Amino acid sequence: MATDAQPTFRQDLIDRGYSRRQMAKAAALLGAAAATNRMPEAQAQQAAKAVAGAVRIGANECWTGPFPSGVAAATKLAQEGNRYEPDDEHAKLFAAVASVEGIPADRILAWPGSSDPLSRVAVAYASPTRGIVTANPTYEAIWRTGDWIGAPVRKVPLTSDYRHDVKAMLAADPNAGVYYICSPNNPTGTVTPIADIEWLANNKPKDAILVVDEAYIHWVDGPHAAKLAATRDDVMILRTFSKLFGMAGMRLGLTFASPTLMEKMIRYDGGQVTAMLPMTAVACGTASVTEAALIKQRRAEMNAAREKSVSHLKAKGIKVIPGSQANMFMIDWGKPARPMLDALLAQGVQIGRSWPIWPNVSRVSVGSMEEMEAFNAAVDKVWKA
Ligand SMILES: Cc1ncc(COP(=O)(O)O)c(C=O)c1O
Repeated sequence: MATDAQPTFRQDLIDRGYSRRQMAKAAALLGAAAATNRMPEAQAQQAAKAVAGAVRIGANECWTGPFPSGVAAATKLAQEGNRYEPDDEHAKLFAAVASVEGIPADRILAWPGSSDPLSRVAVAYASPTRGIVTANPTYEAIWRTGDWIGAPVRKVPLTSDYRHDVKAMLAADPNAGVYYICSPNNPTGTVTPIADIEWLANNKPKDAILVVDEAYIHWVDGPHAAKLAATRDDVMILRTFSKLFGMAGMRLGLTFASPTLMEKMIRYDGGQVTAMLPMTAVACGTASVTEAALIKQRRAEMNAAREKSVSHLKAKGIKVIPGSQANMFMIDWGKPARPMLDALLAQGVQIGRSWPIWPNVSRVSVGSMEEMEAFNAAVDKVWKA
């Protein structure tokens, strides 16, 4: 399963003289996991490299920064930056998240973003004999981790209404180690119903882990899967502050899962990665999660900006993948997407990439209303049916 000249994790260990016993131990040395996820979203696409002066709607970032209370909290902690942890900042974050989500605080851990725990859960629970199952298209970071550890990765097309096809996912590998659901899904923005997620949780092998990545859940005005992690020991929820909270460069993410499940992901460094977070990010996150009114307001504004572009495109006869409930949508140009990306860039608008399964389809991230108006105007200039 290794790509290009990249050896698998296992082969790399053999080449470096590891014995079988040491290899088993090394498999748990999840420092490698961090390295496996080498290309988070922003690096994974050439389109995300900032082009000076362009409207940046390619990397699913938030168009604006953290909430004012988050910035104020981070500023205060910057001033106390001489201390590793000035005043129980982790505990405050976990208490705030627990109160918002209804998850016991001991089932919450913080990470420098969610890419790292995503990679770690794959290294901890998948293997060459216990594969990984995902949708296609989806957020593909876990595909690369699977390739690295030599775990088979099954990619199951979305349903005709762009949900995860949970029955087909189980059928694709009934003995996988990790099943990955991304809801809302990156890149389609579509939501998989909680009932389908629960079905997979109840029907997968008992010792397999169901990972539900809710990076974009704050744009959904509806139920989320977090409650599954409050009671079950085989489900892990991923959250990030990189999206609606506007903290992508500050690096903060969360996992909700049983402590035993998470312990296997942090063995290698005794929890250093979760303990040694920038306190500025932790404090910013703590202040942000409880800003219910601002979250709602940002969600409504960005959903309105998304719908403005979607109706503009539809009015021109351009096909949009329906059902996005996130800060992104996909356009099916009916012809190769890459020249469209280039043409829009020439107009000063950077849209996102395509997925190999859909080469005619571009992902566009939702910016401010003003940015989406600039996008609409650029489409008017370049679009020829
Ligand atoms: C679905 C999904 N999960 C996880 C991530 C990782 O984000 P981060 O590491 O910034 O938390 C992203 C980033 O785009 C994403 O789209």
